[in-house]
Amino acid sequence: MRRENPIGIFDSGVGGLSVLREIRKLLPNENLLYVADSAHAPYGDKTKEFILERSTTIVDFFISRQVKAVVVACNTATGAAVKEIRPTIRPTIIAMEPAVKPASEKTKTGVIGVLATSRTLTSNNFQILLTRFSDQVKIIPQACPGLVEQVELGDLNGDKTRALVAQYVLPLITQNVDFIVLGCTHYPFLASLIQELVGSSITVIDSGSAIARELKSRLEKAEILADRNYSGSVQFWSSDETGKAKQVISQLWGDDVDLSNLPACVPI
Ligand code: DGL
Repeated sequence: MRRENPIGIFDSGVGGLSVLREIRKLLPNENLLYVADSAHAPYGDKTKEFILERSTTIVDFFISRQVKAVVVACNTATGAAVKEIRPTIRPTIIAMEPAVKPASEKTKTGVIGVLATSRTLTSNNFQILLTRFSDQVKIIPQACPGLVEQVELGDLNGDKTRALVAQYVLPLITQNVDFIVLGCTHYPFLASLIQELVGSSITVIDSGSAIARELKSRLEKAEILADRNYSGSVQFWSSDETGKAKQVISQLWGDDVDLSNLPACVPI
């Protein structure tokens, strides 16, 4: 692996952009490749086998572009596929973990809420996290069907999105949470709306910046961080060829992006 090799980052769709922006901020010298598997989002209602197949396919695409690291910027794919993929590839692999640890360390009420997809909440990884922290704090898992779809549409504040967010977060207030953990990478795009609905006494946190720091530290240890004089780039691919993905990725990225189709050699 060499310093100049790129880093691959992927998600079921646009959610991983919330992780990509933290990586770009912390590591501006790196060349970043982002894949949104938007034709298959959400992963949350797919089988483990399907998610593993899609994740393997995208990781193979990254390997064909000689990445030095892969960031699985999707909690759902982390739960369904990382254990199987990790031993099979050479590049460093960084996976998501909902920010239950920092929330558990900082909570004053001793109650934290976790918003995620049903598949993440029923995954082994999440059960292990629950077991690790549930003797210190009360953890309230809240599945949020429909929210990933709203973010995929670029609808961050419309009536339907507001109603869904209210349905999922308002009950957490009455249960005395003082931290809400965003355990799905799509949800940071709804953080302002969530904060508006729950008020300033509840802290809303996600794992994006922690993942970026973890990536930096792993690259540092392996002595493959990009040269500091180099100005990094970001390239985007999507499996959705309808044009909608380009529009939503540009909206969430805050700039007009060039979006390529995921190559046909990548089986769908
Ligand atoms: N961004 C993915 C996650 O972090 C969304 C999952 C989905 O596509 O259902 O879990």
